[in-house]
Amino acid sequence: MTTIQAAPDTDVLQFPPGFLWGSATAAYQIEGAAAEGGRTPSIWDTYSHTPGRVLNGDTGDVADDHYHRFREDVALMAQLGLTSYRFSVSWPRITPQVTPDALGPVNPEGVAFYTELVDELLAHGISPSITLYHWDLPQALEDAGGWADRRTAERFGEYAEVVAAALGAKVPLFITLNEPWCSAYLGYASGVHAPGRTEPAAALAAVHHLNLAHGLATAAIRRAAPAARVAITLNLAWVCPEKPDSVLDAEAARRVDGLQNRVFLDPVLHGSYPADVQADTAAVTDWSFVHDGDLDVISAPIDVLGVNYYSPTPVRHWTRERPKENADGHGDGTASPWIACDDVEFPTQHGRKTDMGWSIDPRGLTELLLRVAREAPGLAIMVTENGAAFPDVVDAEGRIVDTERIDYLRTHLAAVHEAIGAGAPVTGYYVWSLLDNFEWAWGYARRFGIVHVDYETQVRTLKDSALFYADVIRRNALPQ
Ligand code: NOJ
Repeated sequence: MTTIQAAPDTDVLQFPPGFLWGSATAAYQIEGAAAEGGRTPSIWDTYSHTPGRVLNGDTGDVADDHYHRFREDVALMAQLGLTSYRFSVSWPRITPQVTPDALGPVNPEGVAFYTELVDELLAHGISPSITLYHWDLPQALEDAGGWADRRTAERFGEYAEVVAAALGAKVPLFITLNEPWCSAYLGYASGVHAPGRTEPAAALAAVHHLNLAHGLATAAIRRAAPAARVAITLNLAWVCPEKPDSVLDAEAARRVDGLQNRVFLDPVLHGSYPADVQADTAAVTDWSFVHDGDLDVISAPIDVLGVNYYSPTPVRHWTRERPKENADGHGDGTASPWIACDDVEFPTQHGRKTDMGWSIDPRGLTELLLRVAREAPGLAIMVTENGAAFPDVVDAEGRIVDTERIDYLRTHLAAVHEAIGAGAPVTGYYVWSLLDNFEWAWGYARRFGIVHVDYETQVRTLKDSALFYADVIRRNALPQ
């Protein structure tokens, strides 16, 4: 008699028990209701309403109308089996009258909206993770200097305390900032994000004030919500010198690593700024915006490091012999986010790309997770964003067959699994994004959602990638 043996379970990549499976969004990208609930304008309202700034003149005025449809959206999350949801709180909903010198009164309608959202999530067994700042700075603060002004950091600490006091008993994780690299350099150096300034010195001041804001918020959350865990989310770059044994390419990589990774990691994890970055940028600023004691505030221990990853960052040395390649969207005479990097070039990548033109290489995610694990032993790590934009089409049956997105997610989840296997303490993963939404300077022309949004009707439709993800969550494993 032949016995049929069960196949060994080698065809799945199992994730650790309790691994958090989430999706992420941000207030300005999904909420809409820009002038409702007592909200005042943020820098993204101003920027998107300035002609020429956002593709097709799109704005976040309505977006996904999530402000009115959040219960429907939470039901979708529950349908997918998400165990966590990362969203951001809009500062101008919470303290709409903030000025550089005073936080102003708390807006009960703003607090009520997020309280209802949190309660709805908890009622569905979904753990809320709150990002306190996902780029929608109150315009009144920008009018007085924005992140280049130290008072913005001070007010942010106070705002964090308000949110933590209101929601801290129900919310296990607060992420202070999302991708401060973008806030500082895209907002103040290249100007392709709000507030659209092209002032390198202001951008470096913004770097420090964002780091300080993180530190002040960390202290505030500890005071107001002692049970909550604290994180910061960084878009770390996997910097790849084109010729690893070229001294000049290595120098280009050092500069980019300094400005994108170490200028955030070092103060938060080690309480110092990288000396090489300060030296490289000495002609731009003397760094006198760093005051005594700031680095102690910034380096207060955190509980989780959030890593956002989409695409690798290849670099090489550039000499004036040929025109600069423009793979990072700069170098064509527009302002660059890369301060003191005149001799750095971002070469065009070949191979598969997403609709953003970003090349696809999941190895970078493994590498970055392992780097953080090495640099901060014992610190929990979460992938707080990962995902891809593709030009989705709704077919005749109303289905969105987004095979490329599924492939992207599958290979990047395998990369996370590999990092865990190699010892990185990764405790959760959030797909960017739950819904198609306002993709900043690209408006609604780029779709990152695993759920399709018809912007005319606000109808939501699960893409095939959502069904794929739901299956992964159900198994707590990635089928191979
Ligand atoms: C990172 C940002 O946090 C998010 O807001 C954005 O939509 C995605 N990257 C995709 O560009």
